[in-house]
Amino acid sequence: MMRGVGSTNVPAGTDNEPGEPDWLEHSYDAFPRLEEAFNAALAESLQPCGPELLYDLVREMELPSGSSAADIGCGEGTHTYQLAERFQFSVTGIDPLPRHIEIASTALASLAPEVASLVQFAQGAAEGLPIGDATVDLVWCRDVLVHVADLDRAYSEFRRVLRPNGRALVYQMFAGERLEAREADWLWKTMGVVPTSADAARTDATISAAGFRVDKCAM
Ligand SMILES: C[S@@+](CC[C@H](N)C(=O)[O-])C[C@H]1O[C@@H](n2cnc3c(N)ncnc32)[C@H](O)[C@@H]1O
Repeated sequence: MMRGVGSTNVPAGTDNEPGEPDWLEHSYDAFPRLEEAFNAALAESLQPCGPELLYDLVREMELPSGSSAADIGCGEGTHTYQLAERFQFSVTGIDPLPRHIEIASTALASLAPEVASLVQFAQGAAEGLPIGDATVDLVWCRDVLVHVADLDRAYSEFRRVLRPNGRALVYQMFAGERLEAREADWLWKTMGVVPTSADAARTDATISAAGFRVDKCAM
């Protein structure tokens, strides 16, 4: 990463690969002189938002308690419970992995009864949701869609299950311009990412094609 971000500032002769005899010397020699630019680039690319960001966005929607939400790709249900506890939504967590559904359902027993009664889990996938048409006020989909190849299908399912004026909150990672091809190659394979689904332009086009309007985009 250091070489990727600061490559234009690295003095000649520092382009050695790790393991080559003089790599350590060159690397430590170069870094102090590109550290400031490196840190500036890092701060700019991260633009960190706090961990409450997504819940703040839900709060801004002003959906009344009792609204119906679907947590698509809920994993072990952490955010499914939170949506019920924080907003008193009636929430269905959906995930394709039976193990996730089992863990999430088992953990329901440890919740306060008034929260647990608002939550249910079902096995299913974004591309074919086990939810009726126009029954949901909020689709919450956190850190999932990079794993989904057929984004058109997923977004059209979101549209199908949402009531008129329903809202979708989708959070995901995208490839930025600083991501080098070889880094992407490693990262996508390691994380099980469908490369085309980490392309922001493609996602924008898919969102529009599904009939959604983007109200807010936060990074
Ligand atoms: C990184 S985890 C995120 C879990 C949870 N949403 C969270 O924010 O903690 C990705 C989840 O997406 C689920 N997933 C993978 N493919 C999916 C698909 N086609 N439809 C719905 N969920 C999927 C995985 O089983 C996993 O639980």
